[in-house]
Formats: sequence, structure tokens, C-alpha cells
Amino acid sequence: MAYKLLILLFILLSVGHIYPEEMCVSCHINKIHYKSKGLCTLCHLGNAYTTRMDLAHKNILNGDYAYFLIKDNWKVFKGNDLIEKAACRRCHTVGNEGNNIAANLNESTREKDIKMLNDAIKNPFLFMPQYNFSKKQIVYILNALFNNAFYSNGSNKGYTILHFNRGIKGKNIFDEKCGMCHKMISKKSGPLGSGSRGPNLSGLFTYEFNPIKEVKKWNEKKLREWIKNPRGIKKNALMPPIILKEEEIKEIIKTFNE
Ligand code: HEC
Ligand code: HEC
Ligand code: HEC
Ligand code: HEC
Repeated sequence: MAYKLLILLFILLSVGHIYPEEMCVSCHINKIHYKSKGLCTLCHLGNAYTTRMDLAHKNILNGDYAYFLIKDNWKVFKGNDLIEKAACRRCHTVGNEGNNIAANLNESTREKDIKMLNDAIKNPFLFMPQYNFSKKQIVYILNALFNNAFYSNGSNKGYTILHFNRGIKGKNIFDEKCGMCHKMISKKSGPLGSGSRGPNLSGLFTYEFNPIKEVKKWNEKKLREWIKNPRGIKKNALMPPIILKEEEIKEIIKTFNE
């Protein structure tokens, strides 16, 4: 009995080990690399259980994007640096951190194919800033996004679906007073503003926001000072002072807080 179990165990182990790898390897005989790290599909995705190339290559990550599990890889490092500097996390969750006013990018790397992800960064959705990243920079960012997704603890805060039918609900004071120069996404009111002379202000009060260097972190007090007199904070600020009634300021602060 024990000896039969042993044989069964042996078969299970060998099938489990050889079977999935072999399907990729049956064609890629010359490209058996990083074997100690595990299966081809760990880094390249795709489907290991078929010998049909079109199916095997579905959602495949080619070599450019397959560095995300390679320890201390400089592409991942550079990608993370770009993500920090661009403050992607003030809108997106990346790894275990970030806000949830736009898609959780851990989920996006699992659900969207690599072309869609590239496009989303290259030609951003209207309320995502246009960063004008080079092709290479996008490759680094994507390696970093896959790396973060892989090591994230899987918690998903869910994200707020944006409401575009806000028009019916009437005007918003941010639209009116700030919106000709700024955009922002508010959880409650959705996308606001249409200008791009000033920065996109989504997530202004959260620590993920990357503020101008004269300000450590934006809060209600600082924002009031700034609106009244930007040059009191930043010497050559291009934003003009804006005269607002107390209830208008309150409304704008509420929009940033909700
Ligand atoms: C039926 C044969 C076949 C199978 C099965 C197969 N491949 Fe390929 N693969 C090829 C051929 C041929 C090419 C080169 C032609 C091309 O670039 O489309 C290729 C190209 C690739 C590339 C480079 C793609 C690029 O855009 O440069 C990667 C990465 C790759 N395969 C990974 C895999 C992985 C991982 C698996 C298993 C999940 C797999 N392949 C299964 C035949 C196969
Ligand atoms: C630990 C991650 C990792 C694993 C596991 C892995 N690869 Fe790769 N693969 C890479 C990286 C990184 C590159 C690009 C640099 C290089 O060639 O080493 C690459 C490049 C390739 C290429 C060349 C395609 C191109 O676009 O340059 C093919 C084909 C490929 N791998 C197939 C496979 C197959 C088949 C397996 C399974 C036996 C496998 N890889 C396992 C990370 C991995
Ligand atoms: C001001 C908010 C904001 C910032 C900052 C931002 N994004 Fe986005 N992003 C969006 C919105 C809005 C969408 C489209 C709607 C959605 O996904 O919720 C989007 C979509 C995406 C998508 C497509 C997601 C999918 O599942 O379709 C990717 C990928 C992405 N962003 C990457 C980035 C990266 C990388 C950065 C930083 C370099 C970044 N975003 C910064 C708001 C933002
Ligand atoms: C006429 C265009 C204009 C209007 C209107 C405007 N801003 Fe600005 N804002 C700018 C510009 C340009 C900057 C970039 C910083 C500078 O002035 O050098 C800026 C910067 C900011 C910053 C700093 C963000 C950062 O990167 O740290 C905040 C906060 C801000 N604006 C809030 C507001 C609010 C709130 C309103 C509405 C009450 C508003 N702005 C209206 C043009 C404008």
C-alpha cells in the first residue's frame, strides 16, 4: 500500500513539474533560461497548457517586460522611481499603497494585456495627466507595476467609478473658479475642471500627492494661504490670487476632502 502511494506521489510530482514547462519548451528548445526561478509563465504569462502558438502566446509578455521578478533589476528600480516622481499613487493603488480614485493597477496588470497598458500610459484618459514618457520609460514603469502587483498582499480597496453625468446635478465651485486651469478627480463629484495650465490636483491632501517644493504637504490652512496669495508661498508662482467667499472656499476644501 505504502509503495503504491509512493509511486503515485512520484507520478504527481513529475507531471506537476514537467508538464506545464514542456509546452512552452517544446517550441522554445533553445530558450530554457532562469530555470531556478520557476515556470516560463511566471515571468512571461501566456498559457503553458497548449501547443497551439496563438493560445500559448495569449497575453504573453515578451523579454522587455519580463524583468519584474528578477531581483534588484535596474529596470524595475527605474520604473518605481518614475512612479514615485509622477505620484501615480495619488489616484491609483500600486502594490500595497495608494489611493483609489482610479483603477487599482495591480488588478489592471492581471486583467489588461500589455498593449492596452502601454496605450493607457501613452495616451492617457482625459483625467490622467499626460506625462510624455518615452517608450523605454513606459517599459520600466510596466516592469515595476508587474513587480508591485506580484508582491502585493492582494487587498483590494475597490475603486470609485467616475460619474460623468454630473452636469445634471448642477455646478461645482471648483469647476467654476479653478477648472479653467486645473483638473481633478473627486470621489464624490467625479472628474472636475478642464484646464491644464496648472497641475492636476487629484488627491491633493493625501500624502501620495507630490507637492511643489515650497510646501511639504497640502492641508486646509496651506491651501487657504495659497489661494489668497500664491506668491506668498512660491516666489514666482504663475497662479494668480483668487478671491473667494468663505462658503466657496469651504466648498472647494470639501471637494478635496471627499
Ligand atoms: C507552437 C510553438 C510555440 C509554443 C507552444 C510557444 N511558443 Fe513562444 N514563440 C514561438 C515562436 C515560433 C516565436 C517567434 C515568432 C514570434 O515572435 O512570434 C515565439 C516567440 C516567443 C516570445 C518572444 C515574443 C516577442 O514578441 O518577441 C516569447 C517571450 C515566447 N515566445 C514565450 C513563450 C512562452 C512563455 C510559452 C509558453 C506559455 C510559449 N512561448 C509557447 C513558438 C511557440
Ligand atoms: C525569471 C523570469 C523568467 C523566466 C522564468 C523565463 N524567462 Fe524568458 N525572459 C526573461 C527575461 C528577463 C527576458 C529578456 C532578457 C533575456 O533574454 O534574458 C526573457 C526573454 C525570453 C525570450 C526572448 C524573447 C524576447 O522578446 O527577447 C524567450 C523566447 C523566452 N524568454 C522564453 C522563455 C521560456 C520558454 C521560458 C521557460 C522555459 C522562460 N522564458 C522563462 C525572463 C524569464
Ligand atoms: C490624476 C489621477 C491620475 C494619476 C496621477 C495617474 N492616473 Fe492613471 N488613470 C487615471 C484615470 C482616471 C484612468 C482611467 C479610468 C480608470 O482607470 O479609473 C487611468 C487609467 C490608467 C491605466 C489603465 C488602467 C486600466 O485598467 O485600464 C493605467 C495603466 C494607468 N492609468 C497608469 C498610470 C501610471 C503609470 C501613472 C503614473 C505615471 C498614472 N496612471 C497616474 C488617473 C490617474
Ligand atoms: C489662471 C489659472 C489658475 C487658476 C484659475 C487656478 N490655478 Fe492653481 N495653479 C495654476 C498654476 C499655473 C499652478 C502651478 C504653480 C505655479 O503657479 O507656479 C497652480 C498651482 C496650484 C496648486 C499647487 C499644486 C502643487 O503642485 O503642489 C494648488 C494647490 C492650486 N493651484 C490650487 C488651485 C485652486 C484651489 C484654485 C481655485 C480656487 C486654483 N488653483 C485656480 C494656475 C491656476
